[in-house]
Amino acid sequence: MAVIIDGKAIAAKIRENIKAEVERLKNKHNLIPGLTVILVGEDPASQVYVRNKERACIEAGMNSTVIRMSADTTEQELLDTIARLNLDDTVHGILVQLPLPGHINEDKIINAINPEKDVDGFHPINCGMLMTGQAELEPCTPKGIIRLIEETGQSISGKNAVVIGRSNIVGKPVAIMLLQRHATVTIAHSRTQNLAEIAKNADILVVAIGKPHFIGSEYVKEGAIVIDVGTTRVGGKLCGDVKYDEVFEKAGYITPVPGGVGPMTITMLLDNTLKAAKRCL
Ligand code: GUN
Repeated sequence: MAVIIDGKAIAAKIRENIKAEVERLKNKHNLIPGLTVILVGEDPASQVYVRNKERACIEAGMNSTVIRMSADTTEQELLDTIARLNLDDTVHGILVQLPLPGHINEDKIINAINPEKDVDGFHPINCGMLMTGQAELEPCTPKGIIRLIEETGQSISGKNAVVIGRSNIVGKPVAIMLLQRHATVTIAHSRTQNLAEIAKNADILVVAIGKPHFIGSEYVKEGAIVIDVGTTRVGGKLCGDVKYDEVFEKAGYITPVPGGVGPMTITMLLDNTLKAAKRCL
């Protein structure tokens, strides 16, 4: 039976510390960290994510602005908005909610954000900094995953870590962050052969594939740390990539869905916004 890694409780604890630090910045330096989120179009999931980000900012005592733009916004209009925010000293963090409508080039948009305000950590400068161990702003979900693994009290150094999924947002960066902490890292993906055999070797298994209930106990080593990044809505219910009940019996530690990685992602967004603001001191 696994120990449950309670992301919700861990996130709440970190948010308390962030809130206290925001209060200190206000009182001592008259500085209020500010996040501006840009939402283009009406994707229902994105609207929920953006509302949650807004609420978390306000609860932490930060300034939160949401710029809602219509689905037919041109690429140039979006670039102009970003250019304006890049120059605005009251805006410490800029986040463009993804996905963007098909006629807008996401890379071009991400590349236009001032890397010092890129609280998602998606800009190629920040990706490069991460890769070379100089990271300032790390992507939020991977940063949250590392914190959850650290909370187990188990060391990462020397362990076999298997990351299933190779996205720029989760799989690739979390693999690099595990490597930096001296794990032996394997990245598996949809074309990987003998996935179960590889995954069963993992002391730390990070699953970020977006296929609900894909990973059963046959993929899991006895006693492993299992981090489930999946959040697929099935019939109104949030489902992870892991078959929780059976993997719970075999793993050493496991994150639930919901209440595992999810709450950590927004918490790390707050942390990055605070960090970006403090660079202005
Ligand atoms: N869409 C889904 N996840 C994310 C995220 O972490 N950042 C942004 N900007 N968009 C997303």
